[in-house]
Amino acid sequence: MMSSELYPVIFKRKSVRKFVKEPLENSVLDDIRRQITTLEPLFEDIKTEVAILGEKEMGGIFSIKAPHYLAIYSEEKEGYLLNAGYLLQQLDLYLSKEEIGTVWLGLGKPQENLKAKNGLPYVITLAFGKANEKLHRKSISEFKRKAAAEISSVKGAPILVEAVRLAPSSTNNQPWYLESSEGGISVYCKKISKLKNTFFPLGKKLIAIDMGIALCHLKIAGLHLEKDIKFKKENKAETTNYDYVITAVLE
Ligand SMILES: Cc1cc2nc3c(=O)[nH]c(=O)nc-3n(C[C@H](O)[C@H](O)[C@H](O)COP(=O)(O)O)c2cc1C
Repeated sequence: MMSSELYPVIFKRKSVRKFVKEPLENSVLDDIRRQITTLEPLFEDIKTEVAILGEKEMGGIFSIKAPHYLAIYSEEKEGYLLNAGYLLQQLDLYLSKEEIGTVWLGLGKPQENLKAKNGLPYVITLAFGKANEKLHRKSISEFKRKAAAEISSVKGAPILVEAVRLAPSSTNNQPWYLESSEGGISVYCKKISKLKNTFFPLGKKLIAIDMGIALCHLKIAGLHLEKDIKFKKENKAETTNYDYVITAVLE
């Protein structure tokens, strides 16, 4: 699934919040099921499952109505939220490439009997279906994002920085910060107390997922540059405003 073919999608994807009620064709859903088997995890040792849920299987008062939902379930090991974001963002980009609308749903809640799958707890959902609004952005100026200088001090890797900058995040928080380090780029996450519009503890969970989404964009931009990025945890201290997440090593 992780391929440079997803790279151009980073520059046009957007959240879709209005969907056509009708479900997608079975052949399309079968293809998505096939794609799920090709997802690449950030951490191999975390058990996960991705399921397609129907219209009636997802609720939550602030949820968005869609004909389908991709729900991810995961073992709650260290790094599982990063891993969940990293996995589902591959599908977010894939679906957008296939002209299918998507939106991450931090506020969705699956039905009681779908809150766990094979013993793995529910983490988060991506709603999807035929878009009943504009599906893609036409230019980067349509993205509401911080300037590159606000999220990075990295010199000489504009393609990688831009891919992270354009990533979607919960309440558009954009919690990421990138810094050069030996052999790569160190990735930091803004401390929750320094972010606006977040609600503890849900916000804290969503921000970790946001960081996984950013790492997915970083990996894909690396593939576009024919670099296979490996993510490694180094010993780096947190700073006043940021927590250290991981280092992207360019090979
Ligand atoms: C982890 C996560 C959770 C989100 N939860 C919701 C949600 O519950 N409802 C919603 O309308 N949008 C949700 N969003 C979508 C963001 O608001 C959106 O990605 C952000 O504002 C950037 O806009 P864009 O995706 O159109 O580029 C979520 C996004 C992420 C990454």
